[in-house]
Amino acid sequence: MRSQFAAALLLPLLELASGQTLVVDDQVIPADESTVAPATDVVAADSTTAGVQLFTAETTQLTDDVLANLTNLQLSNITLFSFDANVTETTKVKRSQSGSCKTYPGDFLWPSDLVWKVFNLISGGALIKTKPYASPCYDSFGNYNAAKCATISNNWSNNSYLSTDDPTAINAVLYEGNTCLPPSLSTSDSCTLGGYPTYAIAATGVYQIQLAVNLARNLNLRLVIKNTGHDFNAKSTGAGSLSIWTHKLKSISFIQRYSDSTYTGPALKLGSGVQAYDVYNAAKQYGVTVVGGEGQTVGVMGGYIAGGGHSPMSSLYGMGADQALSFEVVTADGRFVTANANTNSDLFWALRGGGGSTFGVVTSVVVKAFPKIPVAIMSFTLMTGPTVNSTAWWGAIRAWFQDFVKYTDEGQYSYWSIVPLGGDQFMLNMAPWFAPNMTTAQLQASTAPWMATLAELGITLTPVYQQFDNYYDAWVAGFPLESWGTPNIRQASRLFPRANFQDATKFNATFNAFKSVVEDGGFVVGVNVAGDAKGNYPDNAVNPAWRETVFHAIMATIWDTSSTPAQIQAAGDTMTFDWNQRWRDVTPGSGCYLSESDYIEPNFQQAFWGTKYDRLYSLKQKYDPLGVFYAHQTVGSEDWKMSEFLYGNLPSQNSKLCRA
Ligand SMILES: Cc1cc2nc3c(=O)[nH]c(=O)nc-3n(C[C@H](O)[C@H](O)[C@H](O)COP(=O)(O)OP(=O)(O)OC[C@H]3O[C@@H](n4cnc5c(N)ncnc54)[C@H](O)[C@@H]3O)c2cc1C
Ligand SMILES: *[C@@H]1O[C@H](CO)[C@@H](O)[C@H](O)[C@H]1NC(C)=O
Ligand SMILES: *[C@@H]1O[C@H](CO)[C@@H](O)[C@H](O)[C@H]1NC(C)=O
Ligand SMILES: *[C@@H]1O[C@H](CO)[C@@H](O)[C@H](O)[C@H]1NC(C)=O
Ligand SMILES: *[C@@H]1O[C@H](CO)[C@@H](O)[C@H](O)[C@H]1NC(C)=O
Ligand SMILES: *[C@@H]1O[C@H](CO)[C@@H](O)[C@H](O)[C@H]1NC(C)=O
Ligand SMILES: *[C@@H]1O[C@H](CO)[C@@H](O)[C@H](O)[C@H]1NC(C)=O
Ligand SMILES: *[C@@H]1O[C@H](CO)[C@@H](O)[C@H](O)[C@H]1NC(C)=O
Ligand SMILES: *[C@@H]1O[C@H](CO)[C@@H](O)[C@H](O)[C@H]1NC(C)=O
Repeated sequence: MRSQFAAALLLPLLELASGQTLVVDDQVIPADESTVAPATDVVAADSTTAGVQLFTAETTQLTDDVLANLTNLQLSNITLFSFDANVTETTKVKRSQSGSCKTYPGDFLWPSDLVWKVFNLISGGALIKTKPYASPCYDSFGNYNAAKCATISNNWSNNSYLSTDDPTAINAVLYEGNTCLPPSLSTSDSCTLGGYPTYAIAATGVYQIQLAVNLARNLNLRLVIKNTGHDFNAKSTGAGSLSIWTHKLKSISFIQRYSDSTYTGPALKLGSGVQAYDVYNAAKQYGVTVVGGEGQTVGVMGGYIAGGGHSPMSSLYGMGADQALSFEVVTADGRFVTANANTNSDLFWALRGGGGSTFGVVTSVVVKAFPKIPVAIMSFTLMTGPTVNSTAWWGAIRAWFQDFVKYTDEGQYSYWSIVPLGGDQFMLNMAPWFAPNMTTAQLQASTAPWMATLAELGITLTPVYQQFDNYYDAWVAGFPLESWGTPNIRQASRLFPRANFQDATKFNATFNAFKSVVEDGGFVVGVNVAGDAKGNYPDNAVNPAWRETVFHAIMATIWDTSSTPAQIQAAGDTMTFDWNQRWRDVTPGSGCYLSESDYIEPNFQQAFWGTKYDRLYSLKQKYDPLGVFYAHQTVGSEDWKMSEFLYGNLPSQNSKLCRA
């Protein structure tokens, strides 16, 4: 398997399929256009592909002709990078050849340095050997740098713009093993690779993604995909892996009139590396609104849209995944394909809610654009204190919860946190309440009954109201910059259906279950949002529970960094098996949001996909029968297992991935 390539392989140039010149070695390949294209683009869709022009990054593709030329150019054997001719046909043979675990560094079949060198050459120098994000704070990787360490440490928790620019940094460091933290957060005095990938390919073109997928499949390597690394459950990392880093695929173009059998109207085509701040800013320039999440640096076309995606606009327009019209994607066989209503429609169905890192590497998505819309927002803090005792405070929360259905029916959304301050003290931080298509006066009218109840409870609330004529400005003003990289937190969540707020008995049980978790020390981030766009949503793989939801609640347990492993496991188990069980008990048959869920959610297939799971599993077998793509708790992940656990029952990303 090793060293298929001749050593004297310093190819000066590769001619790629599009006729573009790819300069390898130390020169720069044609960059993906990262600027926003002029708004005059008008592209009519047809039935064969999206009908939308490919981005420059997508025109540079690996084809059979290119592979043939690799041989011509004295590459003695192209097997390492070849496509899978017929995955279905060859599955059994390949599975039996590849053994039960992925191939890891130190294994006999792990590629030699020469193979990595060749891969780097033919990918235009895009291969990066991992040095963990915080490694400049330590001697371990030969890059100690006190100034850089200070920048990283000081920005670690509160500036995700820096961390999302790193090829392999991830938010959910706990499941990686907390192996390379800033010294102030670390209980160790060293930095190790831990659960981070061995190599990452900084993709600027589709061909690099194809080469990586083919190499990983042909050599049975663990393959991961990282976009921003925000995933709650460390699904964008893995020890001993090759990672595809999609962050640089940032192209954006506006399509004034996109048309297919399901939709005619304006759309945006967005590279899969586009982050929320990129897309909202571009949409503002084009005078439209795009559905995306709240976090500034969270990706919108990677894990977000793949997982379903809830948005400040969802109560009006539905889930992020509902907006997708067409995907460009590299599948497990290495081919670059289109998936939309007319082409590969089953893959299109699965990519909208079936989860990231499962069916392929998405390079771009065409999504609907909506008209520019005014937005009113309000922010406030409501705390217990000398004039507000906990009875009054809970009374205020209860009265607010009672109107959750009304608010989402009116198209509103609110994003907030509840912090138990110890003893009988609590704080609600509304950041923000977001009312699309409403004026401040309309928002005030809508919330007047609640404000009256607050007055009856002796509570004076003075919200800050702001009104904007477009989504972007309201979003910038309303939402905080998200936190990052907390080593001592675990989260879990639940989707609460509308019916729980409409029936008095159910409401009491729901409210009491919610309250008991906070009283027992649970932190909560709550979102009052509906996912059904008033019934106007397409059939796709989004969790059916989302269509009933008016309340998505995330709970967190946070422990002291000096806690013992036994204490950490106890805190996590209490959350998973006691606190969240109380929420499950009042929401039978519902589920939770896969992108913001418990790392060890029991029966995750039902919880994340409900009745959609069986079809998703069979599509996984069709599109990726070899298990090229794997991430924790994705469709088909039950066929695999991590070989070691952290704190008793948390699969460690710093261990080997093997067949179950
Ligand atoms: C601070 C914060 C705020 C959030 N706010 C919201 C919100 O408002 N609404 C909401 O719905 N969610 C929200 N989320 C959850 C968010 O949707 C998920 O964390 C999501 O996984 C992020 O996707 P990413 O591509 O940015 O991150 P990554 O961690 O890079 O990727 C997430 C998963 O998707 C896979 N993936 C990424 N790109 C691709 C690709 N191109 N092709 C195939 N697979 C890919 C990765 O392998 C991984 O499994 C938030 C998360 C955080 C941390
Ligand atoms: C290329 O390598 C593969 C795998 O090692 C081997 O099966 C095949 O015969 C080789 N082909 C050539 C032309 O050498
Ligand atoms: C393959 O190489 C030949 C000879 O250099 C060149 O003419 C052709 O364009 C190349 N094909 C591809 C697909 O790059
Ligand atoms: C792959 O093999 C299966 C089973 O033999 C066959 O039905 C299918 O048509 C083949 N697909 C391609 C693309 O050759
Ligand atoms: C945070 O990062 C920025 C950008 O690198 C840097 O200018 C700034 O000094 C950092 N902050 C601190 C407190 O080090
Ligand atoms: C992060 O916190 C540091 C202080 O620890 C501060 O200097 C910096 O401005 C903050 N950065 C952001 C983006 O809020
Ligand atoms: C809490 O405050 C309310 C309203 O001010 C008051 O009626 C009630 O008696 C107080 N309860 C307790 C236990 O102090
Ligand atoms: C916004 O409100 C106007 C009237 O106030 C209404 O005509 C329009 O349909 C609303 N838009 C949406 C998306 O609900
Ligand atoms: C719900 O709880 C409230 C307050 O505790 C109580 O007054 C009411 O009777 C309860 N309703 C039902 C249907 O149980």
